[in-house]
Amino acid sequence: MPIDLKDKRKTGGTLTERKSIADRKTIADRAATTRERINSISKTPVSRDTASSNLAVTRNSNLGDYEYLKKQILTITKVDLNSYKEAQMKRRIDQLINKKGLKDYPAYINLLKTDRDALEEFLNHFTINVSEFYRNPDQWDFMDKTVIPLLLQRFGKNLKIWSAACSTGDEPYSLVMALSKYIPLNQIRIYATDIDKTIIAKAKRGIYDEKSLAGVPKEFCEKYFKKLDSAEMDKVEMIGESDPVATLKTAYAVSDEIKSRVTFKQANLLEPKDYPSDYHMIVCRNVLIYFTEDAKDEVFRRFHDSLLHEGILFIGSTEQITGYQAMHYGRKNSFFYERLD
Ligand SMILES: C[S@@+](CC[C@H](N)C(=O)[O-])C[C@H]1O[C@@H](n2cnc3c(N)ncnc32)[C@H](O)[C@@H]1O
Repeated sequence: MPIDLKDKRKTGGTLTERKSIADRKTIADRAATTRERINSISKTPVSRDTASSNLAVTRNSNLGDYEYLKKQILTITKVDLNSYKEAQMKRRIDQLINKKGLKDYPAYINLLKTDRDALEEFLNHFTINVSEFYRNPDQWDFMDKTVIPLLLQRFGKNLKIWSAACSTGDEPYSLVMALSKYIPLNQIRIYATDIDKTIIAKAKRGIYDEKSLAGVPKEFCEKYFKKLDSAEMDKVEMIGESDPVATLKTAYAVSDEIKSRVTFKQANLLEPKDYPSDYHMIVCRNVLIYFTEDAKDEVFRRFHDSLLHEGILFIGSTEQITGYQAMHYGRKNSFFYERLD
């Protein structure tokens, strides 16, 4: 029987329960999701005193040589910021540095070299991990009714599918559920990757807020998710410095039978060696919007090589492949393409 935290607070709960709730609150106090952090930079109401000092730092738009920053970030994190849209990326990083009250890029680099939490904060901040199950439901509907039957007709049930830049796992787990309508669960295999190790740990844990589940078909919600009671919530492992799960009143765990079908690995879309081969479908959505046109084209070319002939590429609807014919893709609609040669 799920326990309502609110009701328990009214009655006080047992000492142990109060302590674990208090523990969670301590973590919660420290926690802010990446999105919250980003929002807090621009939206948090501030007192008059802090407002004037913040104004001083937010006005500091010249933190130094961005080329220097990019080189240092590459050395420390192996992330090449040259492949991300510069204006957007620089603005995000500058906001973060200003918020920390640091005077320039060298001061920030020194911090990243010595403070693991700051390094993690940087990676979370620049990667933008927002995701949800069945994101853009109309596109998943097309996947369900048209793409999966086509894949089965072309390649049979033994499908190799890659969810690239999978974030918290909502996307690869949605794929398992969508495929389960056609293929026995124990035959489904999804390879899921992301550059961010912390986010992969969260994906493997498989705990979500109610909002992330909004697009999940009702029958799968009932079959594959469990609402956690407060005792179970207290046992959930917190991952990283600012785990949003710490602030949740209600959370859902995706079932082990769904989780067991996905293999997660850290991989960088900007690293040629991280591309696997002979895939029937690649799903890569809502990450290439942050890449420069050149980097995006390079990724599309590499996806082409990772796909088998007639394999399908599912991308975000704002990430269209402009020169798709020249790259030997056929276009099914603005978000589904297929390898032609
Ligand atoms: C906005 S989320 C998209 C999640 C999911 N695909 C979706 O559409 O809901 C973008 C993800 O891309 C990852 N990412 C950013 N740069 C990457 C790179 N160079 N290689 C692999 N993943 C990257 C981030 O860590 C983040 O988890």
